[in-house]
Amino acid sequence: MIAPSILAADFARLAEAADAVKGADWLHVDVMDGHFVPNLTLGLPVVKAILASTDIPVDCHLMIDDPDRWALGYAEAGAHNVTVHAEAAADPVKLAHDIRAAGAKAGLSIKPRTPFEPYVELLSHYDTLLVMSVEPGFGGQEFIPEVLDKVRKARRLVDAGELTVIVEIDGGINSDTIEQAAEAGVDCFVAGSAVYGAADPAKAIEALRDQARVSTGKAR
Ligand code: DX5
Ligand code: ZN
Repeated sequence: MIAPSILAADFARLAEAADAVKGADWLHVDVMDGHFVPNLTLGLPVVKAILASTDIPVDCHLMIDDPDRWALGYAEAGAHNVTVHAEAAADPVKLAHDIRAAGAKAGLSIKPRTPFEPYVELLSHYDTLLVMSVEPGFGGQEFIPEVLDKVRKARRLVDAGELTVIVEIDGGINSDTIEQAAEAGVDCFVAGSAVYGAADPAKAIEALRDQARVSTGKAR
């Protein structure tokens, strides 16, 4: 799966940005609050406008403090997947339950330096694991390959039937990095600049998907 990140699109033309990526599996929307990360992007009113303007399932990545208070609104608005940060959630089990009860999939994200093991049990309550491969906050950063160890561990547990999460990766994914991520076992690749920086975003998605498919085939 490829999830283009509209963080790299023109914020004055978000409906057109969604239209430009018709073949996308998910549309990744980065919500940043200027507290959990040193950047401020958009919030629920803009997400609602995006939801009304596209049929692509919306993948909300909440880089915010106090997701226990704010995440449910995104699920109730109709987001397909709502991801909160493990570092920010106070009661992640209740949060996942509430997100799911509102009809969305629940995602848990970990920053590059956050270990995977302490969250394994918790992940039984979640549908998606979002492994950050850059420090959250900005698009266009360089991929951190060390996080692939966490992807491999998650992949092993999923393949063994011990977890049922979609393994998603976010940050620095492009034609140079997607193959190693696919080989490590990623299911869903977020790509911002690699998609919206391309002359033809829809073609860029196809090319990334083809590359990932070949590498996934090699690894399994
Ligand atoms: C970073 C965001 C990412 C960002 C990825 O904090 O979570 O989704 O848009 O952008 P690229 O693909 O350019 O690294
Ligand atoms: Zn993101």
